[in-house]
Amino acid sequence: MHYAQSLDGRIAVAGRTTKLSSATGVERAHSLRASHDAVLVGAETVRIDDPLLTVRAVDGPQPRRVVLTTTLDLPEAARLVTDRATPSERIVIGTHAGARPEARAWLEGQGVTVLLVGEIAPHRASLAEALAALHARGVERLLVEGGGRVITSLVDAELADELSVEIAPVILGDAATPAVGRLGARASVTLTDARSTVEDGHVFVHGSLRGAR
Ligand SMILES: NC(=O)c1ccc[n+]([C@@H]2O[C@H](COP(=O)([O-])OP(=O)(O)OC[C@H]3O[C@@H](n4cnc5c(N)ncnc54)[C@H](OP(=O)(O)O)[C@@H]3O)[C@@H](O)[C@H]2O)c1
Repeated sequence: MHYAQSLDGRIAVAGRTTKLSSATGVERAHSLRASHDAVLVGAETVRIDDPLLTVRAVDGPQPRRVVLTTTLDLPEAARLVTDRATPSERIVIGTHAGARPEARAWLEGQGVTVLLVGEIAPHRASLAEALAALHARGVERLLVEGGGRVITSLVDAELADELSVEIAPVILGDAATPAVGRLGARASVTLTDARSTVEDGHVFVHGSLRGAR
């Protein structure tokens, strides 16, 4: 997983695109994308940020791009859906219970691959099934870039191996979106092998989540 957060652990002003990454952070994020088979974000991140999820700041291969949703409802102008120019498969994962047939038809008409998995709670697809479906399509290394609810679900389900965080010298306050929210029965998670560097006032932390609890 990789994301940028404020000093107080927030990834965005609620409902707004919020720039937290430095130029170095963007390069690191794009290097990470290039070293993974696929990049995944949650549907709210697509609705709010409209990311392309391509590798642009460095040279490298383009990973497949994946959106996790339940309904398959994404904005018609979403760049990730409409961008046919980048040579990377676009995949949208929805749920059998929540997927709207019209949304599926529209996505497939745009050349997007649609996969359906089980739903474990409202607006929560089964991550285990989603990861298995991606693995079955050849994705060995998956980079998850957010947002907060997807990150929280992955940490809580113990399905993430490594965490890479850029901490920006900014405070966003309680109303902003947390990087990690309520962790089920878990009180806390400590990274093992954590390493950090500081560049231009931004702290970069990288550590392992496997065996961290
Ligand atoms: N600073 C950073 O590095 C960074 C990176 C990415 C995003 N962001 C910010 O994060 C914010 C969005 O985060 P968010 O927490 O509101 O939403 P999110 O995590 O991006 O997306 C949540 C959505 O993902 C879908 N989903 C399906 N299965 C899920 C599961 N098992 N667990 C969690 N979600 C699942 C649901 O979509 P449906 O509604 O379709 O059911 C759910 O509403 C935006 O403001 C964006 O700017 C910041």
